[in-house]
Amino acid sequence: MVSSDFQIEKPASALTISSLSFGYKKESKPVINDLSLSVEAGEIVSILGRSGCGKSTLLNLIAGLMTPLSGEIRIDQHHSRCNIGYIFQEDALMPWRTIKKNLALAQEIGNVPKELWQASLMELLKRFHLDESILDSYPAQLSGGMRQRVSIIQSLLFNPHLLLLDEPFAALDFFTKLRLEGEFYSFIKDTSKAAVLVTHDIEEAIALSDHVLILNNRGSIEANIPIEFEDSQRDPEVIRGVNKFGEYYQLIWQQLKSVISQ
Ligand SMILES: Nc1ncnc2c1ncn2[C@@H]1O[C@H](COP(=O)(O)OP(=O)(O)OP(=O)(O)O)[C@@H](O)[C@H]1O
Ligand SMILES: [Mg+2]
Repeated sequence: MVSSDFQIEKPASALTISSLSFGYKKESKPVINDLSLSVEAGEIVSILGRSGCGKSTLLNLIAGLMTPLSGEIRIDQHHSRCNIGYIFQEDALMPWRTIKKNLALAQEIGNVPKELWQASLMELLKRFHLDESILDSYPAQLSGGMRQRVSIIQSLLFNPHLLLLDEPFAALDFFTKLRLEGEFYSFIKDTSKAAVLVTHDIEEAIALSDHVLILNNRGSIEANIPIEFEDSQRDPEVIRGVNKFGEYYQLIWQQLKSVISQ
């Protein structure tokens, strides 16, 4: 017989935030206010909210770039902050370095062994549909979509377990964006990483997320909407044709409208 106090231990969340508050100035009203959330490994959580409501501030706090006023940010105990990848709207590639030299940063400052770096690089180039021939180019010689792919690969070469993305696909044309969304989605699911994605695009949030969070203008979560689709429906083109997609869109849009007008 199994003893009554036997319990299967639940794996720790990749990220747990409890009662987080933060303000840029102590005397002004907080930008983040008593906010709690958790993200499991293999989950993508999107954050929507009005411009200026604190989305980037929240990512910066998670990345450890700023210190909370109160509350706690817990990263899975097996990992440290060094295992967080941060991807911005515009790529942060160094224009004077070739793509290969840009991608070598993980090896230079991340202490990733050369063989592992080389093998991961080849695998990631394939996954994100980039040809090896781009390695000798400079960032300015690539299209915006290619640069953003390189930027994502640059972060992934550090082997982060948690990815923070601040409007990463916003500057791309619709077709490139859809393709990159699909590549990103399958990467997260295949590797069981966790991701927090800030976006202004409701469709993108639905297509990619397990949960959509709506941040209100008081710096807390107004709504947490679970998004459920069959795996086979998660293709970025297929999902936009599923009836439920439209229903989620309406639900999120109504919630977003209500926080924007607050
Ligand atoms: N370095 C800073 N010093 C003081 N106030 C700041 C600083 N950065 C942001 N803020 C203020 O904090 C609030 C939240 O800013 P934040 O950049 O997090 O918004 P956001 O939700 O990311 O907006 P957007 O959607 O436009 O990117 C805004 O009122 C902004 O003016
Ligand atoms: Mg922002």
